[in-house]
Amino acid sequence: MSKTEPLRTAPTDNFAVPRHVAIIMDGNGRWAAARGLPRGEGHRRGVEALRRTVRAAGDIGVGILTIFSFSSENWSRPPAEIRELMTLLRRFIRNDLADLHKSGVRVRVIGERENLDPEIRSLLEEAESLTRGNDKLILVVAFNYGARAEIARAAQRMAAAVAAGDLAVSAITADKLASYLDAPDLPDPDLIIRTSGEQRLSNFLLWQVAYSELVFVPTYWPDFDRSTLEGAIAEYNRRERRFGGLIARTGS
Ligand code: FPP
Repeated sequence: MSKTEPLRTAPTDNFAVPRHVAIIMDGNGRWAAARGLPRGEGHRRGVEALRRTVRAAGDIGVGILTIFSFSSENWSRPPAEIRELMTLLRRFIRNDLADLHKSGVRVRVIGERENLDPEIRSLLEEAESLTRGNDKLILVVAFNYGARAEIARAAQRMAAAVAAGDLAVSAITADKLASYLDAPDLPDPDLIIRTSGEQRLSNFLLWQVAYSELVFVPTYWPDFDRSTLEGAIAEYNRRERRFGGLIARTGS
């Protein structure tokens, strides 16, 4: 990542940078349609926006950036579009992995891996193992990801532990269940951003968003940049986070 720049939108010295930001990158298709371009062009420009955003997040001081890159439900799209998205992912890893590594980015992947194309699966594993020692920014790629499936996988793993005699039924608590999720060591997101004006979570991180601030921005994903990210962080700073209690805790 390049040198750290101050937050341009920071209203005060106490501007809190969320530790964990998660983004639903939506609107590639509509961005393209609005310009009379094929949807694939929207996805290609979406990858450029992703590069910009990873750089900006690192510069701003976000510790963890989670991106919804392909949902379990996206398999219902036309085969040609799925092929295009897979090609973009392969290219993203092949072309950008070295740069990400050089910039100190650690890549993690969440989602179902069992039935993935073996080539994609090994690329994802390569990205994780190459960058394992980095700590400037953790980039969590949610790929073939659906939150209900993630929770069901956690339940399966817990049930297996119970069946093996390693876990007592009475020991199953919310914290225990969370420890069986795909990335149990990461803190929950402080801020969820969805682009394109849609105001839904679409099966993204349902367990982890219990106390996250949700910010919806009208920008289509290919137009997302550092200033859009800063705007969402500024909105996050205007919210009071109470975590169910009475005392507000703003920021991370
Ligand atoms: C939503 O746009 C976006 C996606 C389906 C996935 C996000 C994909 C990228 C940013 C590019 C691929 C990058 C990687 C690393 C795989 P949409 O097609 O749902 O937009 P629409 O709602 O306007 O049709």
